[in-house]
Amino acid sequence: MIRKFNNTLLVGLFLCLPFCGMAWGMLGHRIVGQIADSYLTKKTKKEIFNILGNESIAMASNWPDFIKSDPAYAYLNNWHYINFKGGFSEAEIKDYLATDSLTDVYTKINWLSGQLKNKELEQDKKGFYLRLLIHLVGDIHQPLHVGRYEDLGGNKIRVTWFKDSVNLHQVWDSKLIEYQQLSYTEYASAINYTTKSQRKAWEAEPVSEWVWQSYQVAGKIYGEVKSGDKLGYDYDFKYNAILNQQLLKGGVHLAWLLNDIFR
Ligand code: ADE
Ligand code: ZN
Ligand code: ZN
Repeated sequence: MIRKFNNTLLVGLFLCLPFCGMAWGMLGHRIVGQIADSYLTKKTKKEIFNILGNESIAMASNWPDFIKSDPAYAYLNNWHYINFKGGFSEAEIKDYLATDSLTDVYTKINWLSGQLKNKELEQDKKGFYLRLLIHLVGDIHQPLHVGRYEDLGGNKIRVTWFKDSVNLHQVWDSKLIEYQQLSYTEYASAINYTTKSQRKAWEAEPVSEWVWQSYQVAGKIYGEVKSGDKLGYDYDFKYNAILNQQLLKGGVHLAWLLNDIFR
């Protein structure tokens, strides 16, 4: 019985492996969380401490990936991304989002924000929803989480990263970030520079604008890679600034959202 169960699990894992890249890796989420922490108000920090205790935002950010191994949470799988066809204009994307009622990263960020604003929410739900929200705001800034249906956000595009056979989605979830050889705290310190006017501009952006920005970056990524490409030094050099900008914006946007929820 146990053997059969294990085999089923193994086969399942094997089938899912090529498409299983589902989130910024551990580092990406923690970097976004660490940056967000630096922009929280005193009030927000206090409210979050009441929910997470001594668990930092950075460390809470990975939890929605850890629970993926539990089938009871399988219903959350499509909360992590939203897919589109290529070539849409800003108006088309934003019009779509205005009436979006599917289960995706956009509708779920909005839903979770609404739930967390309810002061009467049960304590265990507060922890569950807050961890999800922290994670999903990271995901929505990973450009290939606003990817395309046909290749599942780059999961079906095989490429070589230096000598490793990976898919394009994995390059953006983790390979580009790991390549810097920094811890998440070192990485956050290295990129967390914003001016007041920049923060003001970013803070005014609604969630639909986050989607539109990731979609534009995804369009550039798709335009410059095809299956079988070898990616390495040049690719890192070309995209490092864009990657860091997405991580930084993710942190500032997350802080803005949390400050708004717990004001
Ligand atoms: N599975 C299907 N589409 C995906 C995407 N854009 N990102 C992550 N996982 C996915
Ligand atoms: Zn995710
Ligand atoms: Zn991913």
